[in-house]
Amino acid sequence: MSITIVIFEKESDTRAVIEGYLAEKEDVVIDNIFDDYNSGVRYVKENKPDIAFFSMTSDKNICYKMIKRLSEFGVNVVVLSEDYTTSSIIQALRYGAKDFVSKPVIKKDLLSSVDKCSQHEVKAMKKSQIVAVYSNKGGVGKTAVASNLAVELSKLTRDKVALVDLNMPIGDVTTFLDVKPSIDISEIVNKADVDNKTFIQEACCKYKDTSLYVLAEPQNIEQSRTLTPKQVVKLFDCLRKAFSYIIVDMGTNVDKLNMSILEHSDFILLVTVINLPLIRNCQRCLDLFKGLNFPDDKTKIVVNRYLENDEITVDDVEKALKKKVYWKLPNNYYTMMSSINKGIPVSEVNENSNITESFTQLASKITEDMFEQDLK
Ligand SMILES: Nc1ncnc2c1ncn2[C@@H]1O[C@H](COP(=O)(O)OP(=O)(O)O)[C@@H](O)[C@H]1O
Ligand SMILES: [Mg+2]
Repeated sequence: MSITIVIFEKESDTRAVIEGYLAEKEDVVIDNIFDDYNSGVRYVKENKPDIAFFSMTSDKNICYKMIKRLSEFGVNVVVLSEDYTTSSIIQALRYGAKDFVSKPVIKKDLLSSVDKCSQHEVKAMKKSQIVAVYSNKGGVGKTAVASNLAVELSKLTRDKVALVDLNMPIGDVTTFLDVKPSIDISEIVNKADVDNKTFIQEACCKYKDTSLYVLAEPQNIEQSRTLTPKQVVKLFDCLRKAFSYIIVDMGTNVDKLNMSILEHSDFILLVTVINLPLIRNCQRCLDLFKGLNFPDDKTKIVVNRYLENDEITVDDVEKALKKKVYWKLPNNYYTMMSSINKGIPVSEVNENSNITESFTQLASKITEDMFEQDLK
């Protein structure tokens, strides 16, 4: 089946260049080209092409609104722009773009964005991904990372995302996002027939008008205590049927239950902050995971509360852990505290803060890495 493309471009020279490059791809059909963007948006709504190449104009705000609308129609939007600073790329992704190509357009970049968009469909149908957010110490930011990452993932991908509180017996995901689910994990694991996708989605609490769903820890502390590794496997099987991404907030225990959660996850975000005792703990976790035969690249080190001029550098951390740091989240006490106190994600406190940007970029990096891993 051929891939249909609509182009939004006001410069005739660039239009010709894009057409020329795309002509080399046999499976691509250029469906229509617009210099009047409003007509283009109407056309895309009616005709639902696979990809829209959208060239930014000087009126960025109008462009972002259009990108958002186009992606809401279910079209893969590739943004073309002369401004390819990180913040400009992030903005485009935040409004739903699937990819970003810098201008003047290079053939390799343009064609690879077509591949990326077409692979997306195939990839999305493959196995869903479970990300466990863990540390054997409390207070490092696990819940902050799990909840904000889940929000950003749902915004970025528009796929169904579940945020699951497995920090037993008393989790705080529901407080971080100020939701009051009526059903919790125990009802899923205790129900015999849970092969029903609708039941699972209904059991989770939809977060505002996003594609994020929250599943709370058992309300009854006794039920938390008796949750078994076998039930966790059952829970994960159910969730995989209904969600593309499952983010698990965890407690700190090094017990059978937590090891089973980690074992059955696809990615582990091992959260730490930079100080000696915590780095040592991180090292212990890595040794433990090695002993459990987890693949080395399954665990990703996330440094939280990162400060530029810290006495201990990321280089030191990497040397001590003999492992690359996957992501650094900046220390932003004010935004984070305000987010927790109000029960809203950091993006709602301040969309332009460094911590919000960092979570958006983390969500984008993690989906890219998942797709790559999924293709292997
Ligand atoms: N990036 C950050 N910048 C500043 N403060 C943070 C950051 N991440 C977390 N915190 C603070 O650390 C505290 C613990 O975070 P939390 O997510 O509850 O940790 P955990 O779940 O690991 O126990 C919170 O009070 C939060 O305000
Ligand atoms: Mg927590």
